[in-house]
Amino acid sequence: MLKISILNGKARAARADAHVVFAAGEGRTKALASLPADLRARVAAAAPAAPAADGAVFTLPLEGKRAARLYVLGAGKETEITPRKARGMLRAAVKTLNRNGESSAILDFPFTLKRMDAAEAREFLLRSLFLADYGFPHYKTGEPEKKPLAAIALEPAGAFAKTESREIENARVVARVARLVRDLGNTPSNDMRPRDFADRVLKEAKARGVKVTILDKKAIRRERMGGLIAVNRGAVEEPRVVVLEYKGGRKGEAPVALVGKGVTFDSGGISIKPADKMGEMKWDMMGAATAMGVVLAAADLRLGVNLVAVAALTENLPSGSAYKPGDIVRFRNGKTAEIDNTDAEGRVILADALDYAAEWKPAVILDFATLTGAALVALGLEAAIVFTDHDALAKELVSAGETTDERLWRLPMWEEYKENIRSDWADMKNTGGRWGGSINGAMFLKEFVDQKTPWAHLDIAGTAYYDRDYAGYPIGATSFGLGMTLRWLRGRQAGAGGGRRGR
Ligand code: BES
Ligand code: MN
Ligand code: ZN
Repeated sequence: MLKISILNGKARAARADAHVVFAAGEGRTKALASLPADLRARVAAAAPAAPAADGAVFTLPLEGKRAARLYVLGAGKETEITPRKARGMLRAAVKTLNRNGESSAILDFPFTLKRMDAAEAREFLLRSLFLADYGFPHYKTGEPEKKPLAAIALEPAGAFAKTESREIENARVVARVARLVRDLGNTPSNDMRPRDFADRVLKEAKARGVKVTILDKKAIRRERMGGLIAVNRGAVEEPRVVVLEYKGGRKGEAPVALVGKGVTFDSGGISIKPADKMGEMKWDMMGAATAMGVVLAAADLRLGVNLVAVAALTENLPSGSAYKPGDIVRFRNGKTAEIDNTDAEGRVILADALDYAAEWKPAVILDFATLTGAALVALGLEAAIVFTDHDALAKELVSAGETTDERLWRLPMWEEYKENIRSDWADMKNTGGRWGGSINGAMFLKEFVDQKTPWAHLDIAGTAYYDRDYAGYPIGATSFGLGMTLRWLRGRQAGAGGGRRGR
């Protein structure tokens, strides 16, 4: 990972290969106004006509003490720098420096961000910078892509004014976990089977002193998790349930439970999906990766909260032993469901995982799942859906997401929708017809949570991964939800006033 530091005190004398500045605004003079005063005249003499145009790059030699070369990067209109745009700008900057073989840089970021206050923007930009060189090259043989850029020194002005080294360290810790979460998703499903996922999480949890419990197929059977066993029946690979427990809060304080859908590959099963884009279903475990990641990062940050996270892991494949439409499944809590479509498997495994999480008597439950294609129909790629009957919880989560640019939008779970999943043969069926597909999924899950426990279901199908470079993210897993949830937990910790202080 990049080394990031703040340029103050003695560090100011340090010399870098490159000094990166951003130009914004229309017209040359205006565009250059955002540049440090000592550089403005030099740049003015050499700049092209539109140095602030989006994607514009020009460089010039600097004989000054600070850096060998100046990079002026176009930032468009200063008033339109949204978080996603800033994420893309930082990624492009780091890419350019790497391509040019620069190994160290000074970075000036003179703008504020839309929709964020100064502290939020700082945290967001620091994390984005630590993630700016993320890629997944592990399966490409031959010449590895060179990434010479090793260190960035931040000018303590603009968005980075008042940056504390503690903030840099926290961002580094969260970005390191975000990289792990992305790796779990981007790894192809032949190398990310339920046991691979469990092994990797075990290793990461142990390294942090987080308690891990892994249920194998026998233990899952013993727990009577009929939903997880049913979905797993078509697969040769065994299922797993991974449980992480972190105790940073007061002794005896009810934990926050996080539950994640971990379908390491979703073919649809007997209700098989069309071939087109089926490969994307290696990311159908991002909910589980997110839930695990939150606990690992919380441990690194020593957050003063108690957490339990449950990941339900299986493949969903067709075979002679696969579960079938018309089958009736009995879940851990005793309820039954008619399987109408084996491709609606996420809710079938989460049913048991949600019920299992209740064993920890949690104060609140969040679940993360790439549950429905309908989430993409509803909100596109810009936001995940939050479902909860708890207005305060909805508000907290939506606002936490705004501060980290992981946006959530609430949809209802009115009782009337329950009619959609009525079954003639069992307590419910696992689909609800064409309309309100994401809501039907949420209504199904609701049957497995005690109404007295505040619970939110996050359908992250539209935001968990992108099939191309998008919104300043590289192709693949985004780690959406990690930052939002950590922010929300920090808010809870502050609200409760107790527990150990986070760093
Ligand atoms: N994993 C999919 C949902 C999905 C689709 C995630 C696209 C990411 C991108 C889920 O298991 C699924 O197949 N859902 C079905 C439900 C339907 C059969 C009721 C869907 O969305 O079509
Ligand atoms: Mn499916
Ligand atoms: Zn799925």
